[in-house]
Amino acid sequence: MRKKVIAGNWKMNKLPNEAIDFITELAPLVKDSKNEVIICVPYTDLFYSLLHTQDTNIKVGAQNMHFEEKGAYTGEVSGEMLKSIGVEYVIIGHSERRAYYGETDETVNKKLKKAHALGLKPIVCVGESLEQREDGSAKEVVTTQTKLALEGLKKDEVEKTIIAYEPIWAIGTGKTATKEDANETIKWIREKIEEIYGKDVSESVIIQYGGSVKSSNAKDLFEMSDIDGGLVGGASLDAQEFAKIVNYK
Ligand code: PGA
Repeated sequence: MRKKVIAGNWKMNKLPNEAIDFITELAPLVKDSKNEVIICVPYTDLFYSLLHTQDTNIKVGAQNMHFEEKGAYTGEVSGEMLKSIGVEYVIIGHSERRAYYGETDETVNKKLKKAHALGLKPIVCVGESLEQREDGSAKEVVTTQTKLALEGLKKDEVEKTIIAYEPIWAIGTGKTATKEDANETIKWIREKIEEIYGKDVSESVIIQYGGSVKSSNAKDLFEMSDIDGGLVGGASLDAQEFAKIVNYK
């Protein structure tokens, strides 16, 4: 049985004191959860979040990293830097980074390889635009993104990669893919992974859904056969709401 993994993506929100308040409020609400609970916070909140989650079951992730170890990359943060302070997870290739900061399938692949080499657990995002959905190329788009992201990874690395299927048209819009649609696309991704890496890998890889997940739709989505939890943006900013999503049953 695959575990449900619920990850919050705070994006560019919360100052350190707000992060600490959030963790203090969330920790007792999710302490008995069987599901994996992750908060992916801005770089400036990482250290405080790690400190304040120490005696909790909440894991901490970053929202991006560079694929090089160090050098003349003004404004960037390396995987080594994340690892050095104890960060466990990192989001890679979020559609906002692909759209606004020139992230490509190639850089996503380099970052995934680097994350695995360092023992960081990557959450890699794939998903089609509204246009691609309407012209019928959604499945082809997510297949290509997934294949290129995972290219050259070892089987055990693919197995340890969390994939977040996030249709771009559903992010921050209040529009959620229907549970059937989301499940069908995730199942499709799983089948493609099986074709390349085998059933043992495809059956154990975690594939989340993301895009306007909230407490009112979490149960419906997460109970589907192939949806292994969610990557939650807006609704992860409120501890009470995020706890309801984590404890969706
Ligand atoms: P949303 O964002 O839940 O606000 O739609 C999801 C994401 O971008 O990861």
